[in-house]
Amino acid sequence: MNVKDIQRPAFDVERVRADFPLISGTELAYLDNSATTQKPKAVLDAEREYYENYNANPFRGLYDLSTEATDRYEHARETVARFIGAKDASSVIFTRNATESLNLVAYSFGELLKEGDELIVAVSEHHSNLLPWRAAAKRKGAVVRYLFCDATGAYSLDDLRSLINERTRLITIAQISNVFGRLNDIKAMAALAHEVGAVLVCDGAQSVPHLPVNVTDLDVDFLAFSGHKILASMGIGVLYGKRELLDKMPPFLSGGEMIETVSLDSVAFATVPHKFEAGTVNAGGAISLEAAIRYLEEIDREKAIAWEDHLTRLMFEGMKNVPHVNIVGAQDPDDHHGILTFTIDNVHPHDVSAIFADSDIAVRAGHHCAEPLHQHLGIPSTTRASLMFYNTEEEVKRFLECLAEIRPMMGYRD
Ligand code: ALA
Repeated sequence: MNVKDIQRPAFDVERVRADFPLISGTELAYLDNSATTQKPKAVLDAEREYYENYNANPFRGLYDLSTEATDRYEHARETVARFIGAKDASSVIFTRNATESLNLVAYSFGELLKEGDELIVAVSEHHSNLLPWRAAAKRKGAVVRYLFCDATGAYSLDDLRSLINERTRLITIAQISNVFGRLNDIKAMAALAHEVGAVLVCDGAQSVPHLPVNVTDLDVDFLAFSGHKILASMGIGVLYGKRELLDKMPPFLSGGEMIETVSLDSVAFATVPHKFEAGTVNAGGAISLEAAIRYLEEIDREKAIAWEDHLTRLMFEGMKNVPHVNIVGAQDPDDHHGILTFTIDNVHPHDVSAIFADSDIAVRAGHHCAEPLHQHLGIPSTTRASLMFYNTEEEVKRFLECLAEIRPMMGYRD
């Protein structure tokens, strides 16, 4: 497609950008949104308001401040449950981030595994959805089987079917890979898992911020995501799990508030979700996540997503016109969901990102915590630009201009 033919959707990007103190009115083109997003004032205010007016240890005190803190924390849980289409708020566990959520499932669901059980892990997974499963398999004598994608990042359901057998207990895959940006058919994969009584664990770290995700419709057994990638604070994450599974799983961490009673030789655990929330909870973080969800709902999420898709198309088509730039994954912009990972012939990604940084453009370089995927693709490292709805066409233009300058700056003449 020609860049000029790309239709501009209606979205007042300047109005929303003004809500983000760190980037509004600055020269910084922040294109590292898959690593973490910037925070709107409404989110910063909600967290500050909590600490200024309601801070006490939730669940601990019987005085008004503590019960208010508890109510606000639980209200945030209900908002998250609604946002992801969970039928029951007790299926939503607050964690520190997607990594902790995935470690929780790998440890606690992992405790239910037996020798010889098989776990299917997609090769494009972030290390946080790979290493915890390897550890669980090692602990239990289970076997990890890898599902491989093609060079466009596509997974075949037939390949998946051929790995599944009566020993399969679990399939785990990101809904959107943090390298390819490609959307995987989670609903179909969950259905295949369920045919043999296995579960589907979905890493939603890159999808929940950019798509409407409904756990009930997808019929996933577990979904993990981080607050900080969806406008909220760092240090708050979510694990959704089907209640009947969570009920069967032993706790991950032990300590305060996750018990019903303890004696010197026995313990009865609290019910879900509290069984999985040992220690003082991150109430301020949960409230910031609730405020982020409200913010997304207020700006008209559908339009925001259409804007991200528009910027993705602009960036993709512009990159195709720059010689020696190779986009990793699908060659269709609609398969990228705001993530454009690339290489430039004979230029190291660290040089690429340093040149961008000199122009006040933030991108990420390296293996993006997906080293086995890079090995599978035969590419040691890549550079990644990742978009959010507060990015502008002007930023994409600056990115493309800088991209075109990189090889000449490194001394190449063609
Ligand atoms: N997981 C984050 C990323 O892909 C940090 O950059």
